[in-house]
Amino acid sequence: MTGTSLGKSKISPTGNSSDVSVLGISGSPHRHGNTETLLDAFLDGARDAGAEVEVEKVVIKNLIYRSCQGCNACHKDGVCILTDDFTPLFEKILSVDVLAIASPIYSMGITAELKSLIDRAQPYWARKFVLKTLYFDYGHYQSHKGLFISTAGQSWDHVFDGAFPVVNAFFSDMGFEYYDNVIANKMDEYGGIKGHPAAMNDAFAKGQKVVRVVKKIKKKKSSEEETDDSVQAPPVVE
Ligand SMILES: Cc1cc2nc3c(=O)[nH]c(=O)nc-3n(C[C@H](O)[C@H](O)[C@H](O)COP(=O)(O)O)c2cc1C
Repeated sequence: MTGTSLGKSKISPTGNSSDVSVLGISGSPHRHGNTETLLDAFLDGARDAGAEVEVEKVVIKNLIYRSCQGCNACHKDGVCILTDDFTPLFEKILSVDVLAIASPIYSMGITAELKSLIDRAQPYWARKFVLKTLYFDYGHYQSHKGLFISTAGQSWDHVFDGAFPVVNAFFSDMGFEYYDNVIANKMDEYGGIKGHPAAMNDAFAKGQKVVRVVKKIKKKKSSEEETDDSVQAPPVVE
């Protein structure tokens, strides 16, 4: 079985008929642990923001993939030499309006799972900056929002600082505005995310908010497009 056909069973096909599509990607190897639970609260909030919202969660731990091989073949044609479960996942990422990527802090950075996905985005970086075949305009970034969801054991406020630049680069390469963070430290003190209801409420509220914001932007965009279409060409005077 190829990676692509495996991917089909785990990642729904692209093409969203709903108003706002939201994809959550869990990069925690710990199923239903602190980080995935916080991501779930965010996705519940997104679902709660109204009808016509399509919400999907993908867990990297359940996928079959290889890390970037550093061959730089994508610098020549913008295509990765690897075909596996990350292949349809990247198509999915490019098709959604809201992307939430989640990782606990491991050794002051993101997990190997999420980093593997981010490194595999190199073909998109190559299309943007080497081949110049991929371009996202300001309007695209504005209507595509990225959020980083994370938990950490320690109480240091700066415990997430190693993760932010990586997340920023990924969102930029994939056409998302880095919109917000949903982060909770002191997990050791709280005895896990369930002992920190304020963080769970914050995640839920941010899920609701981002869907409402994107809905508004998309509505405004489509009414502007309708106005443009309705402008009639002046009659031809002979
Ligand atoms: C391998 C490993 C490394 C970790 N490194 C850190 C760290 O550098 N800083 C920190 O605050 N917490 C660290 N932690 C704690 C986790 O970030 C914290 O328990 C987190 O909430 C776990 O989320 P999870 O349940 O999704 O795995 C580490 C945990 C593990 C397993």
